[in-house]
Amino acid sequence: MVVGNWKMNGCRQYVNELTAALSLHCFNSVDVVICPPACLIQSFNSIDVMLAGQDVSDCHEGAFTGDISAKMLAEIGCKYVLVGHSERREKHGETNHQIAQKALRAIEQGIIPIVCVGEPLHMKEAKAEQDYIAEQLAPVLSAVNCEQLKQIVFAYEPIWAIGTGKSASPEQAQYVHKFIRDIISRKCESTADEIRILYGGSVNFDNAQALFAQDDIDGGLVGGASLKCDSFTTICRYANGEH
Ligand code: PGA
Repeated sequence: MVVGNWKMNGCRQYVNELTAALSLHCFNSVDVVICPPACLIQSFNSIDVMLAGQDVSDCHEGAFTGDISAKMLAEIGCKYVLVGHSERREKHGETNHQIAQKALRAIEQGIIPIVCVGEPLHMKEAKAEQDYIAEQLAPVLSAVNCEQLKQIVFAYEPIWAIGTGKSASPEQAQYVHKFIRDIISRKCESTADEIRILYGGSVNFDNAQALFAQDDIDGGLVGGASLKCDSFTTICRYANGEH
């Protein structure tokens, strides 16, 4: 699975360019998902690309200016939504508890939440990344049952690797992905192997193949490189098993 997170970038012209570039390929072994800014979601008309919101409200409806509900995302055709991206956690003060509620709102509407976790640099340097990630996961895991858990995609995005050009090495990423899968397995042993865990943080066409080759890395959450047609389609081709 490859997810392109445009963040607050992109325009209608790029929607058309990227859709045209992706349509030249047959991605039958990879799910390609685009998370454009909310106002561009309905500019896509391709049936080949799945769409995701970049965020969703933890509430059902009401006086929440600027927020978008899971029901609204479902109505405009989103199959996925990012939940708890580090930029939302850091710049909008989202808590682990709120993020668990957001994931639940999505699941209730049949939308698959892509729950993002990942440690800041000082936690990595203190070798405390596992505790940090376990704490981020705990409220999500206790909010759902095993059936609901099956409908979640997780993304490991170390904050020090996001937008910095310094990706985690495949081995470093694999180590944390395995740790995440083990935590999931403690909650629901039989489903842990089926759950997709994506890596994000400076994924590009140079490092994608080695990252995707790791046992517990099931795809990528791609920021910067999703803003260039060539880079993004190449990453999707690699995830599709092409060379
Ligand atoms: P990046 O962003 O690929 O530009 O590092 C990834 C993300 O924030 O999802």
